[in-house]
Amino acid sequence: MSEQRPAGRPRSEKLRVGVLASGRGSNLQAIIDAIEAGALQARIAVVLSNKKDAQALERARHHSVTDVFLDSKPYAGQPDSREAYDRAILEVLRKHEVELIALAGYMKIVTPVLIKAYPHRIMNIHPSLLPAFPGLEVQKKALDWGVKIVGCTVHFVTESVDEGPIIIQAAVPVLEGDTADTLSERILAEEHKIYPRAIQLYAEGRLRVEGRHVLVAGATEATTASLMNPA
Ligand code: GRF
Repeated sequence: MSEQRPAGRPRSEKLRVGVLASGRGSNLQAIIDAIEAGALQARIAVVLSNKKDAQALERARHHSVTDVFLDSKPYAGQPDSREAYDRAILEVLRKHEVELIALAGYMKIVTPVLIKAYPHRIMNIHPSLLPAFPGLEVQKKALDWGVKIVGCTVHFVTESVDEGPIIIQAAVPVLEGDTADTLSERILAEEHKIYPRAIQLYAEGRLRVEGRHVLVAGATEATTASLMNPA
């Protein structure tokens, strides 16, 4: 069991989130929008990317959020290059007093260096109903498999990729004629709802991890009506 609110921070101070992103940054944008709309009581302390031209960095700048490009190339020659890179990330996160890390389209596998420094304090968003379809190109895999319902998942990050305790999920029906693109678009719209929601639950100190389970204090349960497809 682990306490999900960092000790020592007065409730009046906003949760400091560090976002790691490699690309487009639409999930980052959803988090920024939720903060600006007052739906998420947090502040983004820093947005860090391993890609210099990541749109996520531009989005951060546009909203006067500190952005950092951290090149992984200088670490490439070292025997523990991934760990060395994560140590450099850790330094940035600590400098900005980050309490919770949100991976948002971050295309590198995080090593135990970060995971041990932030136990159950790293979230990731994945465009499938985990544990179905971990990894990449998951919408295509879902279509190829012929599933009728897909979705997205926010989970805590552990050393096993895409396997950490699940915080929140949203389901989306697969429609006739869907392509990986149309499906991604509808899943993404749900991602943009559940990621800020998951962070807000964390900020409110309502998440507790027990083994594989994330207990959500005072959660309003989903409607018992099922999503059937075809209806
Ligand atoms: C999203 O589909 C997310 O689930 C996955 O990578 C994509 C990132 O999109 N991990 P964006 O950069 O947030 O727009």
